[in-house]
Amino acid sequence: MAKFLDKISERAQKLNKTIVLPETDDIRTLQAAAKATERGIAKIILIGKEAEIKELAGDLDLSGATIIDPETYEKKDEYVNAFYELRKHKGISMENAAEVMKDYLYFGVMMVKQDDADGLVAGAVHSSSDTLRPALQIIKTAPDAAIASAFFIISVPDCEYGSDGTFLYADSGMVEMPSVEDLANIAIISADTFKLLVQDEPKVAMLSYSTYGSAKSPLTEKTIAATKLAKELAPDLLVDGELQVDAAIVPSVGAKKCPGSPVAGKANVFIFPDLNCGNIAYKISQRLAKAEAYGPITQGLAKPINDLSRGCSDEDIVGAVAISCVQAAAKEQ
Ligand code: COA
Repeated sequence: MAKFLDKISERAQKLNKTIVLPETDDIRTLQAAAKATERGIAKIILIGKEAEIKELAGDLDLSGATIIDPETYEKKDEYVNAFYELRKHKGISMENAAEVMKDYLYFGVMMVKQDDADGLVAGAVHSSSDTLRPALQIIKTAPDAAIASAFFIISVPDCEYGSDGTFLYADSGMVEMPSVEDLANIAIISADTFKLLVQDEPKVAMLSYSTYGSAKSPLTEKTIAATKLAKELAPDLLVDGELQVDAAIVPSVGAKKCPGSPVAGKANVFIFPDLNCGNIAYKISQRLAKAEAYGPITQGLAKPINDLSRGCSDEDIVGAVAISCVQAAAKEQ
């Protein structure tokens, strides 16, 4: 099976999308911009001062990227006004708005909001919280999503489970303590995301330390309630719970612990009860199972704003750019 990212990059090459990279004081951003434009994955906008970017870039070929300086950009005042209108109910002044728009990350997110770009990738320099907050404040959730969340695509080598060893893990990056309603909504949107990115039928497991009532506690009851709600909200979705991981992915265990389940033994989408579980699980898969982990990728936002790990490589940034292009195209449909 071609690597997940190779397929996504091929799809991105046909889409002609424009992605903003605001963290231009980091060489990985510039290397990613050079690679993404050279490979025809996306048009790239770099936010910053041309002289500083070119100095840091050295011999890198950035001729395929557009550099925009917030101080001199012709739409600068339009963006300040738009940000003021979006946030005035929070008590900000026009002066505050002008100050915020000097921040490359906020400015880049506003470019996406104003349809001057299709998506943004950051997080090589900023923490996850600092990367996600402007997206939540400016872009907000999509009309068909109750909540924004973050997931990882996990590809485990030589693995017979899931979708040829590929899984979606959510929430593994944003929502710390999801409510029953949040869990149900994350399950439904994760299924759509899996279909979009992995192009296989999603089978969603609502994970727990208990299977079909083998243990009983407020924790298990929460997952049971979320499963019931997800089934009510999306009657056609293959979703089941509460399931332990072995029952979710191993056919013989699934058949024994929950016979007749439409998901047990074949799950490829994992919904974790909280961010501790989701984040720990993805890192265990990555380190112990030597899985490829792509993310955190956001879902449920009106437009794609994607976070990176601060330990990311330039290739990770190119991958997030490609994923953002595919997400942006899906939003238009
Ligand atoms: N979906 C949609 N909107 C959300 C949201 C979500 N999951 N979480 C917060 N918001 C909205 C709030 O309603 C608020 O809107 P408003 O300002 O228009 O009223 C806005 O986003 C900011 O929310 P706030 O509560 O001030 O931000 P926060 O400090 O809680 O930050 C996160 C939100 C996502 C940054 C926070 O949940 C977080 O830090 N998550 C963990 C991220 C992380 O560290 N991941 C590491 C693992 S990779």
